Amino acid sequence: MPELVDLRSDTVTRPTPEMRRAMADAEVGDDVLGDDPTVNALQDYAAELLGKEAGLFVPTGSMGNQVSLGALTRPGDEVVCDAGAHFLHYEGGSVAAHLGLVMRPLPGSNGVIDAAQVAAAVRPGNDHNPRTAVVAIENTHNSAGGKIFPLDEARAISKVCGERDVKVHLDGARLFNAQAATGIPAREWASCADSMSFCFSKGLGAPIGSMVCSSQEVIKEGRRLRKRLGGGMRQVGVIAAAARVALERGVERLGEDHANARKLAEGLAQLAPEAVDVDGVETNMVYLNLAPFGRQAPEVSDALRAEGVLTIGFPGAAMRLVTHRDVSSSDLDRALDALRRVLA
Ligand SMILES: Cc1ncc(COP(=O)(O)O)c(C=O)c1O
Repeated sequence: MPELVDLRSDTVTRPTPEMRRAMADAEVGDDVLGDDPTVNALQDYAAELLGKEAGLFVPTGSMGNQVSLGALTRPGDEVVCDAGAHFLHYEGGSVAAHLGLVMRPLPGSNGVIDAAQVAAAVRPGNDHNPRTAVVAIENTHNSAGGKIFPLDEARAISKVCGERDVKVHLDGARLFNAQAATGIPAREWASCADSMSFCFSKGLGAPIGSMVCSSQEVIKEGRRLRKRLGGGMRQVGVIAAAARVALERGVERLGEDHANARKLAEGLAQLAPEAVDVDGVETNMVYLNLAPFGRQAPEVSDALRAEGVLTIGFPGAAMRLVTHRDVSSSDLDRALDALRRVLA
């Protein structure tokens, strides 16, 4: 039986031999006490890379968002975001349950809210309204299909927020995909935000871990929140060591994932041009619309599994396919053959 082709997410990659060696060799300490040298070095390295004062290693992207938003707000504050924001839909309601924040979703275009929308949404500030404390943007945008947040728009939002004493948070779980696709350094987007988070465990290919980067003050508060949320880890240098390899080696190969996603989209467009927006594929995600085939994602997903191709079959006619380090160009040929058979 050939290996499965796993297009469910870029989170499914296995650690490389180099990561495993780095994990085995990692120098460790107690990170809650602040003396794990591998974690400390990774935090400093990431902060420098993103142009921020400090970094905080956290177990997941969801915790990165919570720690960031929590450090920038008080309970009852409002967070303005795109209506498809990841933390709004896919993080178990944590920002409401754990932080007591009110969400103000705006209808973005492909995950992109603009400065005029933000300016109109910020509350004037009186005793009746929740205080608009943060505007959150997502780059690349997951539910919009890996879309890149235009840097000019991020800068315009940052300006509008700066003038209104509102903070900006960047959910940059896949920020390095945006860097790889555009050649714009990730720190340019980070410079538009007061806090930002990115994940080692997505396209960069590490098994675990995310990073928050911000000012010393926000990171100090973030450490407290991380502990409160149960994310204070001890000899976590073993994980940070793999994350370091991911950051040093993973960025340069993201272009391959983007080329593979494009190839997948082009192959699918040959089956039904209206089923996929080929030009809309900017990074490593392809959204396949099964409506032209008269099909639904759960049953197509089951049929693909029987062909050795893994996808997530959420209810509905949309199916997200994600490329990553453990899917080669020839794996994609196999996946396309399977898709042709299943959708015929
Ligand atoms: C944009 C975005 N932010 C945050 C997260 C949360 O990351 P985690 O699954 O590590 O909690 C994800 C996960 O896919 C994501 O796509």
